Amino acid sequence: MADPQKSKILVIGGTGYIGKFIVEASAKANHPTFALVRETTVNDPAKGKLIQNFKNLGVTLLYGDLNDEHESLVKVIKKVDVVISTVAGRPLPDQTKLIAAIKAAGNVKRFLPSEFGNDMDNVKDAVEPAKSVIESKAQIRRAIEAGGIPYTYVSCNCFAGYFLPTLAQPDATSPPRDKVIILGDGNAKAIFAEEEDISTYTIRAVDDPRTLNKVLHLRPPRNIYSFNELVALWEKKIGKALGKVYVPEDKLLNDIIETPFPQNAILAIEHSVFVKGDQTSFEIEPSIGVEASELYPDVEYTTVEDYLDQFV
Ligand SMILES: NC(=O)c1ccc[n+]([C@@H]2O[C@H](COP(=O)([O-])OP(=O)(O)OC[C@H]3O[C@@H](n4cnc5c(N)ncnc54)[C@H](OP(=O)(O)O)[C@@H]3O)[C@@H](O)[C@H]2O)c1
Repeated sequence: MADPQKSKILVIGGTGYIGKFIVEASAKANHPTFALVRETTVNDPAKGKLIQNFKNLGVTLLYGDLNDEHESLVKVIKKVDVVISTVAGRPLPDQTKLIAAIKAAGNVKRFLPSEFGNDMDNVKDAVEPAKSVIESKAQIRRAIEAGGIPYTYVSCNCFAGYFLPTLAQPDATSPPRDKVIILGDGNAKAIFAEEEDISTYTIRAVDDPRTLNKVLHLRPPRNIYSFNELVALWEKKIGKALGKVYVPEDKLLNDIIETPFPQNAILAIEHSVFVKGDQTSFEIEPSIGVEASELYPDVEYTTVEDYLDQFV
């Protein structure tokens, strides 16, 4: 049951991959929860189950779009205390419209823009097409700060469900059993977080003064692995050594140029994460960042070790 004393949370992008977990976590934590959904999506039979789940959880559906008139966005935002955006791809720059509406509404206690990846201010050598997405998210940060809007940026690193079920193997539907492709030398450390845990930490953060105007980094200590360590863990689980094919960085960079979208985008992200080590190449600066598993030690997060068991 929604608790009227708790912050009212609006999710924009709630029918998307990570958004649905966040809507659910918000409702289950008894926050009055709102989702801005497009009418076409609500009527899409493919999303029927998801929408029904939202209704069962007591989520209030508001019809709308990021590209709605400024006044209608302001009206929606005035209903809530916290706005979380989980839009992706092309609409990312359109979040400036959301920023303008939040500023005009004047009531929002916290805005969480669509981030949910690497820490955008600590990615050094990303290549296209990942580079433009990273720059676009960084520009949204600057617009939020310039507007004086209270924020939290969630840097959750790798969604477990995107990388672990296939061990990031191209065109695979299950983890490798014979040979594995390893980008670079496999020694850069990456960080994995399960989607429900990402959502739990995100919802915990919305009312927490310790996360105000900070980056919330997800670095669950048992989920930090180099690719070589990840492969070794998987080999131990299946009791078999895999053949290893290492892809040198220059070959990977060339493959990114020659591969069509969207596969090139996946490779460019993997270059940043698994070759450049962008998730772990910096220390968290306490004046601008906090770490989720330290702030919320009672959250029993899913470990990579346990997560992989389902695929053995
Ligand atoms: N760390 C990682 O491993 C990882 C992996 C993937 C994504 N990400 C990041 O996570 C974030 C969310 O990505 P995702 O994959 O969850 O996204 P997604 O599945 O593509 O979902 C996007 C959501 O935004 C909604 N949307 C799109 N355009 C809109 C508009 N104009 N107005 C209102 N809503 C709109 C979509 O609504 P409809 O349902 O109506 O289309 C959908 O609900 C992004 O920042 C992305 O870069 C991170």
